Amino acid sequence: MLDWESVMGKLKVGILISGRGSNMAALVEAAQDPAFPAEVCCVLSNRPDAKGLEFARERGIPAAVIDHKAYASKAEFEEAVTATLLDHGVDFVCLAGFMRIVSPAFIERWHNRLINIHPSLLPSYKGLHTHERALADGVKLTGCTVHFVRAEMDVGPIVAQAAVPVLTGDTPDSLAARLLTAEHRLYPLALRLIAEGKAKVNGEIVDISPDAVDETVRLFSAI
Ligand code: GRF
Repeated sequence: MLDWESVMGKLKVGILISGRGSNMAALVEAAQDPAFPAEVCCVLSNRPDAKGLEFARERGIPAAVIDHKAYASKAEFEEAVTATLLDHGVDFVCLAGFMRIVSPAFIERWHNRLINIHPSLLPSYKGLHTHERALADGVKLTGCTVHFVRAEMDVGPIVAQAAVPVLTGDTPDSLAARLLTAEHRLYPLALRLIAEGKAKVNGEIVDISPDAVDETVRLFSAI
């Protein structure tokens, strides 16, 4: 349970990436607004060549590589990740295109302090190749989900979702590009609601405070 009383001032966030880092960049840009209730304390990548590292460094955010290949086990890798997050004063973690499956121990260590963004309207299309599968099924709406992380992949209390239409002639790439603009709006919104205490885990459901419902609803059909 996140003890909000112990979080002084802004929520201190660490972001884990593996590649492009466009969602990380959206979070960093949102957090540059002095009124944003969270600050990005560090960006960590398991891949040395992650493009997002450069962006973070340009913005003056500590950005480190913790290469999973350098560790004998997942446990040791994750211990190094947690140690680095703690060194930077992090009390909340955002996964943003982090391409390692995190272990139950890591999830437990960051229980209700660990969120992810997934490119589908969960619980539909868990896992990879979400756009290909949505196109094959002929769905007319797809979207993205920010959720708290649980041991089962792409399962966990849903914080916020945004929907986008699937258009005739869409390819996985065109759909991904449309969805990405929605992701970049959704992730900062979800983090802000959590940091403001307006999105709270209650059992395995996230309760949104009544005064925040309006702004979450506005994200539906984002295009
Ligand atoms: C996004 O589509 C996100 O939903 C998924 O991985 C992708 C990461 O993209 N988890 P980026 O690295 O944030 O640009």
